[in-house]
Amino acid sequence: MDKKWWHSAVVYEIYCKSFCDSDGDGIGDLRGVMSKLPMLKELGINCIWFTPIYTSPQVDNGYDVADYRSIDPAYGTLDDFRELLDMAHSMGIRVIMDVVVNHSSDEHEWFRESRKSKDNPYRNYYIWQPPKEDGSEPNNWGSYFREGNGSAWEFDEATGEYYFHQYSIKMPDLNWEYEPLRREVCDMLNWWLDLGVDGFRLDVFTRFKKTPGFPDTQKKPNELLDRNGFVVDQSMCTNIEGIHEIIHELYTEVFGKRECVTVGEGAGVWYGNALPYVHPDREELDMVYHFDLAYRGRLFISPDQFRRVQKKWAEVIEQGGWSVQYLSNHDSARQVSCYGCDSEAYRKASAKLLGVLVHTTPGTPFVYQGEEIGMTNVKYEAIEDYNCRYTVGDYGAMVASGVSPREAIDRLAPQSRDNARTPYQWDGTENAGFTSGKPWIKVNPRYEEINLESDRANDDSIFEFYKKLIALRKSCPAIVEGDLTFLFDGHESIISYTRSCEAQTLLVIANYSGDPVDFELPEEIAGGKWNRILSNTESSSPSLARRSLTPWEVEIYELVK
Ligand code: NOJ
Repeated sequence: MDKKWWHSAVVYEIYCKSFCDSDGDGIGDLRGVMSKLPMLKELGINCIWFTPIYTSPQVDNGYDVADYRSIDPAYGTLDDFRELLDMAHSMGIRVIMDVVVNHSSDEHEWFRESRKSKDNPYRNYYIWQPPKEDGSEPNNWGSYFREGNGSAWEFDEATGEYYFHQYSIKMPDLNWEYEPLRREVCDMLNWWLDLGVDGFRLDVFTRFKKTPGFPDTQKKPNELLDRNGFVVDQSMCTNIEGIHEIIHELYTEVFGKRECVTVGEGAGVWYGNALPYVHPDREELDMVYHFDLAYRGRLFISPDQFRRVQKKWAEVIEQGGWSVQYLSNHDSARQVSCYGCDSEAYRKASAKLLGVLVHTTPGTPFVYQGEEIGMTNVKYEAIEDYNCRYTVGDYGAMVASGVSPREAIDRLAPQSRDNARTPYQWDGTENAGFTSGKPWIKVNPRYEEINLESDRANDDSIFEFYKKLIALRKSCPAIVEGDLTFLFDGHESIISYTRSCEAQTLLVIANYSGDPVDFELPEEIAGGKWNRILSNTESSSPSLARRSLTPWEVEIYELVK
C-alpha cells in the first residue's frame, strides 16, 4: 500500500449550521467553528469535512448552491474562511469541502440564464426536454424530494420546456454531457485548491450521468415513495455507463494535479462495484462513502451483518482500494440511538462500543459532530418543528393518504435527518450553549444531561474515550494496515476480530447487546499474552482469562510479542 496521510487520518464532519453560533442569529457560523478548533485539535482529528457552506437559499441546507465561489453570509465571509483555513492548518488540521455539482440551486446565475431562452449560452448547463405530445412530462421519473406532483421534471413557462431535478424543484440537475459545464466545474475546484483547501467530498457523484434518451422506468410505483405514477428509480441515474470517464476527467483536470484527497458520496456504490472508483491505477477517487452499513437509521441490525459487510470491504482494500468507516452523518439518525442504546443506563457504554467498531475496522473513520459526546435522536411533537425535506414531504403524503398526523410522525421520526441536525450540545445552559439567540432548529431536550461540558466532567467521558481511540490510530499500525479476521462467526451478540500486521496484532472483543454474555476464546488466542489497551468498563479485570462481558462492554487488547 502506497501510504497516504488520509489512510491514518480521522475525519470530522461539521454541519456548520448546527455547530456553534458566534453572533446570536441562531445559525452556526465559521467564527463559531474557529472558536472550537482547539477542542477538535484536542480530540485528535486530522481533517474537517464541511458540509456545504456556500451561498445558498438553504432549501436543502446548503446542498442547493447559488454561488460555488462564495461563503453564505449566514456563515461568514470568504475572508473568515481563509482565516479558518490558516488556523486549522496551523493546528495540523486539513479541511475538505463538500462539492455539490450533481445539481445547483435554481437561484444560481447559470440557471437564471439557462431558463431565459433556448439559445442562451447557459442553456445546456442544465437538462431540458420538450413536453410529450400531450404536454406532459418527458418521462415517468419521480424526484427524491416529494414536491409538486412528484415528477423529476418541472415545466418552465418561459421556454415551454421541462428541466430535470432529481431532488428539489429548486435544485435543477447540471448537464454533465456538456463539456463547457465540466470545464466550469474543474475551474471551480481548482480555484478552491488554489485557496488552500485539502480536498473534496463529492455529493452524489454517481448520479451525474442519466440514462441516455430518458426512457420511462418500468419499475412499479411504490406506495410511500411515488405519486401520480411518477417513480423514484435510482437505477435510471446512478452508475450509468460513462460515469467512470467523468470522474477520471476530474482526476486528470483537478485531483491528480495536486496533493488533495477525494471522498465520493457513493449513492449506489457497494463493496461489489466500488473497486473501479477507488483503485489508484484507475485515477478516479481516493475513497467512496458507502451505505452498506449505515443508511438513514437503518441497516447494521446484527453482528452477522456487520461481519459480512466488513469482510467484503476488507477485500476491496486488499485489492488495492480503500474505504471509509462511519455509522452516522448529517443524513442519518444518531448512531447511539440507532445501533446502540440511548437509555441512561447504556448510552455511554454503547456509544463507546460503536466508536471502537468504527475506529478499529479497516478504512478511514469519519466522526459526525456530537457523536463524540453520545448525542441522541430527538422527537418533536409537531411537523412544524421538522426541517428535513424527506420527513416533511413524506409526512404530507402519508397524511394525505389517511395516516393520522401522530402516526405519521411516529413512523418518520426515527429516520428523520433532523435527528443529526439538532444544535451541538456544548453545555447545560439555555440552548445548550449553541447560540444566545433562537436556534434555527430546536435543541434536543436531553441537552442538560448530554453535553460536552458535563461529559468531560465525568470519569466515564465519551469524549475522553474518543480521544484515546483516535490516538490509538496514530500509535497502532495494525489499525491502519492490519488484516481483519473475525472470531465468533455467527455469534448473535459478540463482535470480535483481530487486526494484524507484521509489527502488531490487536484483538477487539465487544458485546453488542444489552445482556451479559459468556464466551470462550479459541485456543490460539487464549494461549497468547495480551495487554488490554482500551476498555469502556475500566473497573472490570483486565484479563482475557475472564470469560464474560457486561452489556455493551468492549475491549481492545494488544498481543505482547
Ligand atoms: C446528499 C447529501 O448528503 C444530502 O444532505 C442532500 O440532501 C443530497 N445529497 C442532495 O444534495
